[in-house]
Amino acid sequence: MKKIAFFDSKLYDKIWFDTINNKYNYDIHYFENKLNSETAILARGFDAVIGFVNDEINKETIDKLYKNNIRILAMRSAGYNNVDLKAALNKIHVVRVPWYSPYSIAEHAMALLLCLNRKIHRAYSRTRDRNFSLNGLTGFDLHGKTVGVIGTGKIGKVFIDICRGFGVNILAYDPYPDTNSNINYVSLEELFKMSDIISLHCPLTKYTHHIINKDSLSKMKDGVYIINTSRGALIESEDLVDALKTGKVGAAGLDVYEEESDFFFEDCSELIIKDDVLTVLSSMPNVLITSHQAFLTNEALENIARTTLKNLHQFFNNELLENEVIYKIKD
Ligand code: NAI
Repeated sequence: MKKIAFFDSKLYDKIWFDTINNKYNYDIHYFENKLNSETAILARGFDAVIGFVNDEINKETIDKLYKNNIRILAMRSAGYNNVDLKAALNKIHVVRVPWYSPYSIAEHAMALLLCLNRKIHRAYSRTRDRNFSLNGLTGFDLHGKTVGVIGTGKIGKVFIDICRGFGVNILAYDPYPDTNSNINYVSLEELFKMSDIISLHCPLTKYTHHIINKDSLSKMKDGVYIINTSRGALIESEDLVDALKTGKVGAAGLDVYEEESDFFFEDCSELIIKDDVLTVLSSMPNVLITSHQAFLTNEALENIARTTLKNLHQFFNNELLENEVIYKIKD
């Protein structure tokens, strides 16, 4: 029976992986620890490792896994920016889940936008305290506004479809535009200039790192709404705080945060958060933070478990790894 070391596990992972594992009968050991250079040793004696988005899978971690005879790393995520693919080359195969439910993330992006705009988060707190005042809760019609979508892959496209139901104008930027679609592509500059709302749906790469920064923010409309369900480091967080303070940014919906790995997915309610930027952001009434939960639907969790275990099955049976991530010399 193949032994699988599963890192950064949560109860909802276990429920779905155990269900799908009935088909494969792997011996899955659920570690609560995140995978990093210190915890990689836990993989000793296992046949495969399952990792997640906030694991630190750098060269040191890869080398330790390799030394402990691990030859397959199955990411149970779409993104893999936290894996040093160059270090893994010719040592460890890296597979991922490229598709599990673009609907889960796109719907969450819209939920953040609607909640922020119509101040649902504030109304919820008020009415529970029997404060039925409407002062300060005014939103705007989405109808007729311009939404800028950065990245028109699987999630970006679903988000665009959802937006269309609201009667908004869509502008999009993608270095690889889908020429068979009816999406209105513009330059990034124009998207920044024209959008009332900007939603990020591109991967984190060296080209997109801090794509939202002081300079790009200065090109945007006053009061622009920014929604990020992709990766935290797409936004220079301190610049975002400054822009929120001046009103340049009217509201921000963040499912991801640059320094999230110390906090997200964990209960830190008893702790003093030492991250001043996160503290300021979470104190602002026009900022809504969710802790990387956009993927968290039953359908997505089931598909993640199904594809991850199928990826491992392909590896163990010397089949073609259909979801392998390959290191490209020229990125
Ligand atoms: P995808 O690969 O289908 O689409 C990404 C799109 O971004 C592609 O069309 C690509 O051409 C485009 N792109 C690449 N470089 C770009 C750039 N410099 N500027 C603008 N666009 C660029 O990926 P998918 O499935 O749509 O996922 C998008 C991102 O969402 C993932 O990379 C991941 O970071 C994030 N994600 C977040 C989750 C969450 O729970 N919050 C869950 C799953 C994914």
